[in-house]
Amino acid sequence: MNRRAFLASSAAIALAGGAYLYSQQRTSAVPEMASRPRLKMPPLLDVSETGRLDLTAQTGPTRFGDGAETNTAGFNQSYLGPTIVMKNGPLSARVENQVNEAVSVHWHGLLVPGDHDGGPHLPIAPGRIWNPDMDIKQQPSTAWYHTHIHERTAVQVYAGLAGIIHVCDGRDDDRGLPTDYGIDDLTIVLQDRRFDQNGRMTYDPGMMDIMHGFTGDTIVVNGQVRPVAAVPGGIVRLRLVNGSNARVYDLSTDDERPLHLIANDGGFLPAPLTINRLRLSPGERAEVLLDFSKGGHTTLVSAGDPNQGVGGMMGRMRRFADPLFDRSFAVLPIIVDETMPARISKIPDKLGETLPDLSPGVAATRRISLDMGMGSGMMRGMMGGFAINGRPFDPERIDLKAERGSVERWIVSSTMLAHPFHIHGVNFQVVRENGRAPRPESTGWKDTAFVDGESELLVSFDQPASREKPFMYHCHILEHEDAGMMGQFVVS
Ligand code: C2O
Ligand code: CU
Ligand code: CU
Repeated sequence: MNRRAFLASSAAIALAGGAYLYSQQRTSAVPEMASRPRLKMPPLLDVSETGRLDLTAQTGPTRFGDGAETNTAGFNQSYLGPTIVMKNGPLSARVENQVNEAVSVHWHGLLVPGDHDGGPHLPIAPGRIWNPDMDIKQQPSTAWYHTHIHERTAVQVYAGLAGIIHVCDGRDDDRGLPTDYGIDDLTIVLQDRRFDQNGRMTYDPGMMDIMHGFTGDTIVVNGQVRPVAAVPGGIVRLRLVNGSNARVYDLSTDDERPLHLIANDGGFLPAPLTINRLRLSPGERAEVLLDFSKGGHTTLVSAGDPNQGVGGMMGRMRRFADPLFDRSFAVLPIIVDETMPARISKIPDKLGETLPDLSPGVAATRRISLDMGMGSGMMRGMMGGFAINGRPFDPERIDLKAERGSVERWIVSSTMLAHPFHIHGVNFQVVRENGRAPRPESTGWKDTAFVDGESELLVSFDQPASREKPFMYHCHILEHEDAGMMGQFVVS
């Protein structure tokens, strides 16, 4: 059975149909904003006191904008899941699967052992319950959770099986950071989707979509089409999560308002970094502060996808499949609502701890090459060439072993396209990107890094993972991951 037939044959969340181009205007004119819906936050699920987390994967109808209902999937609701607030300490989760195919819940960004990681070796069959008893022990950060069934991750995440996690330590007030969920502390899940002429969300990847990763022509924020965020006239925190299957965002504001980058994947930077552009590839998170104390409105915009490939060759092909590929587009307008209370008026100057220097203890150096083999013809390359170090993913094969407590240098390189490279169960530091110091968004503790050429990572292996429940490392373009750009490792 070819891949397309396989996708189309799954009943629960098969999403078929053509694409329809919604207009995305780069404008932040205020009158136009009045017609837009206010950005909503995912419901908050604070488990920091109880230490008990209940999630149910389910399907249900979702309406995007004024389109017809789509059968989508989510946790505890029909699309996406609640924002889970947790703190360090014991956490017992109960995950029930009411979807009629196996799903899993991978805690992307939680440092937990392989047994609790929720990757492809921990599927939850339809009607079954998974009960991982975890112990959370890590820096405050924005993480996320999503399904991770091999060859089904792309379609299932696209259908909605993902949500956000805030790991908190209760000290953000001392840090002088905004903490009012949905007021001055906004969780923003960026996704792009295709819709048919009735406004139903569709997923029907062709070969080009597998090759580049599936991108949509409509930006969906927290599951909403064309929303506007309203914020108080002070400092506002955006927790940005790229939950798209494949799109890389190159974010900036349309009024040149600076972004103050305060946290990357694994937690706070030592101090805010003032930047004008923020590149966020699938799987990455970044927290930024924006200053609205002088009022005004801004629109978060993205430049075209930086993923042009070698010599722009992939880019030229991709233009046919992705109308947003080579131009800038609006992501989220933000307006000030004077009736909302402004609590924070200044950007803090100190945040997290300085990063330890991991280089003295490096135990091993490995080369990881993210391959899209094009050697034996384009067709084969597209459908069969996705691999790491020449080997497509094999759930029966352990690709490497790391010693628990060790640090390794991984030199990760990309061919054809740039790839967001993610490692489960670890935090790493990006020490070099193409021989230079890393971009701001690659500094601090990371678990996913956009590799465009060659990146050098120092990876710290603290969590155990067995042969039976190994950790994954993979490209976070979900179509690439499903097609085989993934490997697995044990830590002991
Ligand atoms: Cu966010 Cu292995 O995934
Ligand atoms: Cu992960
Ligand atoms: Cu990739």
